[in-house]
Amino acid sequence: MIIANWKCNGSKQMISTWFAEFTEKYASKEGSYIGIAPPMIYLEYVKRIIAENSLEIKLGTQDLDASNGARTGAISAEMILDCECNFSIVGHSERRQYFDEKNSTIKEKIHKLIDVATPILCVGETSEENKNNLTEEVISKQLEVLEGLNFQNKIVIAYEPVWAIGTGMTPSKEEINEIHKFIKDVVQSSSINSLRPRVLYGGSVNEENCENFFKSEFVDGALIGGASLDGSSFAKIVTSFNGSYK
Ligand code: PGA
Repeated sequence: MIIANWKCNGSKQMISTWFAEFTEKYASKEGSYIGIAPPMIYLEYVKRIIAENSLEIKLGTQDLDASNGARTGAISAEMILDCECNFSIVGHSERRQYFDEKNSTIKEKIHKLIDVATPILCVGETSEENKNNLTEEVISKQLEVLEGLNFQNKIVIAYEPVWAIGTGMTPSKEEINEIHKFIKDVVQSSSINSLRPRVLYGGSVNEENCENFFKSEFVDGALIGGASLDGSSFAKIVTSFNGSYK
């Protein structure tokens, strides 16, 4: 599973160029899950290009609101369903940092979303927390938002260390593998039906380093920011995932 998070980037021109470059490099493979979370305003535009090129790419949103009605600027779970989005990112560290989102809000959002699309819940520690060996503690707290949820096979967790996002720094392959196993164990043990979630890695993934992560036993894919803005880079990452050991 490879997800592009375009954040607040792009234009119609950029999107057209992106797809021209992507389709040139991309070799499709059955069973692969590729998703794009564009800025909401471009969702229909992206959807049209995907259909025109008969591409197997799922669409999702970068966030949602837990309520609807008088919530200027927000989008609701019902709208996500209405627009046939397959997934939504929830709890991204930029939402936590710049929009002051707390675990309680993230929990409400996931509970709304679970019936309509796949939540991709982002968790991860700051650099300070990492230095103080608090990574597992912080992640356990962030995973508490899943308590009481009947999530069947839908839930996906993205491990995104805050200090690795957009910085060019990453944990080692071994560190990532260890945290991913930890996340799977925690979610499985708290899940009503003992479900083991898919866990994606996110934070400075690019076409050079991706293969290394993809070979790891507990890495089920990636959530990609910066490198996903280039259609040909993204195609190479997707192809590299298809070609790796799983
Ligand atoms: P990055 O962002 O790939 O630019 O580090 C990842 C993310 O924020 O999801």
